[in-house]
Amino acid sequence: MDLVIKNGKIVTATDVYNADIGIENGKITEIGKELRGDETIDAKGMIVFPGGIDIHTHLDMPFMGTSSSDDFKTGTIAAAFGGTTSFVDFSIQSKGDSLSKTVETWKKKAEGKAVIDYGFHVAVTDATDSVIEEIPKMAKEGITSLKLFLAYKGSLMIDDGGFFKVLQKAKESGSLVMVHAENGDVVDILVKKLLDEGKTDPIYHWESRPDKVEGEASGRAIALAEMAGAPLYIVHMTCKEALDKVRMARDKGLPIYAETCPQYLLLDKERYKEPDFGGAKYVMSPPLRMENDRKELWSGLVNGDLQVISTDHCPFFFKGQKDAGKGNFAKIPNGAPGIETRISLIYTEGVLKGHFGINKFVELVSTNPAKLFGMFPEKGTIAVGSDADIVIFDPKKEIVLKAENLHQNVDYTPFEGFKVKGYPVKTIIDGKIIIDDGNFTGTPGQGKFIKRKTFKVL
Ligand code: URP
Ligand code: ZN
Ligand code: ZN
Repeated sequence: MDLVIKNGKIVTATDVYNADIGIENGKITEIGKELRGDETIDAKGMIVFPGGIDIHTHLDMPFMGTSSSDDFKTGTIAAAFGGTTSFVDFSIQSKGDSLSKTVETWKKKAEGKAVIDYGFHVAVTDATDSVIEEIPKMAKEGITSLKLFLAYKGSLMIDDGGFFKVLQKAKESGSLVMVHAENGDVVDILVKKLLDEGKTDPIYHWESRPDKVEGEASGRAIALAEMAGAPLYIVHMTCKEALDKVRMARDKGLPIYAETCPQYLLLDKERYKEPDFGGAKYVMSPPLRMENDRKELWSGLVNGDLQVISTDHCPFFFKGQKDAGKGNFAKIPNGAPGIETRISLIYTEGVLKGHFGINKFVELVSTNPAKLFGMFPEKGTIAVGSDADIVIFDPKKEIVLKAENLHQNVDYTPFEGFKVKGYPVKTIIDGKIIIDDGNFTGTPGQGKFIKRKTFKVL
C-alpha cells in the first residue's frame, strides 16, 4: 500500500472505532489492524474522519461590482487547511449565456489552481427555453444541481415562472434545485425606503431583509417544488420563520432539504453595530438574525430538518471592497469568508458544547453533502473503495481564530477571537498529504472535477 494511517480513531456518520486505513492509488483499499505501507502516519490520539465537503462556495465570483477575493488556488488551500477536501462552487449564468458556456467559464477558473476536488452547481438567471433544454445535458456532464435566486432583483433574481420551469426540467433530469429564498421585490422596496430616509449604515442591511422576507420566499419555493413534484434544497437558512416552513413540508413527507452555515449559528444581529463601519464585515444575505433563531437552527440540525452545514464562503476585503458601501449599505458587497473555519468551529460549538455527537458532526459536514449532491460513497465516508480524502484531527489542539493566521485571501474573519478546540493537523486528498502539520504540501491543479451522480432521496 502507498500509505497507511495507523492507530487513529475512525469516525464516520455511523461508527466510531480504532483501526488502520490502507490507501493505494488514491483509494481506501483496506481497513484493519497491523497494516503496512510504503509511508505511515501515526494517528495515535487523533480522530480520523472523511474530509469535509462544502457545497456552498463562491470563489472568483463577479458580484456587486467586484469579485470575491479568493480564487480557486487561495480558496482551496484555505479549505484544505481547515479540513475540507471537496467543494461545489456556483457557476453563475450571465444573462444571454448558455449553461454550457457558464460551466466552461468556471472550469477554466478552477483548472491549474484547485488543490482539492471540485464540482459545480449551475445558477440559472435567465430561464429561456433553450437554457431550460440544456438542463438534461448538464446532468449528463455531472452538473446535477441547479441554483436559483429569489433575491438580488435586477441581477441574479428569477421570477416564479422561470423557477417553476427549472423545477420541472430538473425533476425530469434527476437534478436537485437549490434556492436562495428571500423575496427580492420586497427587499428592493425596503432598501429604497431606508435610503430615502437617509439610513445608510450597515445595520440597515439587516433592517431591509426581515425574517418574514425569508419565510415567505421559503414557503413559496416549497409550494412551487411541491407543484412540480420536485425535490428542493434551500441554501443558507437563518431563521425560525423559514425553518418552520421546512418542518411543515417535511412533516408532510416532501423531499425538502435545507442547510445553515456557521455564521448563522454563532453570530447575531448585534454584529451590525460594530463601530467604524465594522458591521459591513457581516453584510451577507440573508443577514444574521436573533438569539432565538440561532437556538432554532441548532435544534433543526439535531432533529434532522436541516441536513447540512456549509459555509457560503464569499469573501470580500473589508478595506478595498466592503468600503464601497460607506454611505450606502446597499453597495456593500454581500458575503463573508468561512471555508477554512467551518470544521473546527462546528466541532467545538456543536460537539464539544453538547448540541450533537461526533457522528452527527460528520454527517452534517461531509456525509449528507456527499449524499444529497451525488458524491456518495466515493466521498463523505471512510470505507473500502472510497476516495482517500481524509482529515487527521487533533481533538486537543486549541487555537484562537485570527484572520492573520488563516489562509483565506481576505483581511478579516467574522470569527475573530473565537476559541476552538480540535483542529485538522493533516489533510489527505486522493491519498496525498496536502496539509502536513501547518504546511501546505500539495500542488495547485491537483484537484479534480467531480462528475456528480443524479439526485437520490436522503
Ligand atoms: O451574502 C451572500 N450570501 N453572498 C453570496 C451570494 C449568496 O447569496 O449566496
Ligand atoms: Zn444566497
Ligand atoms: Zn451563496
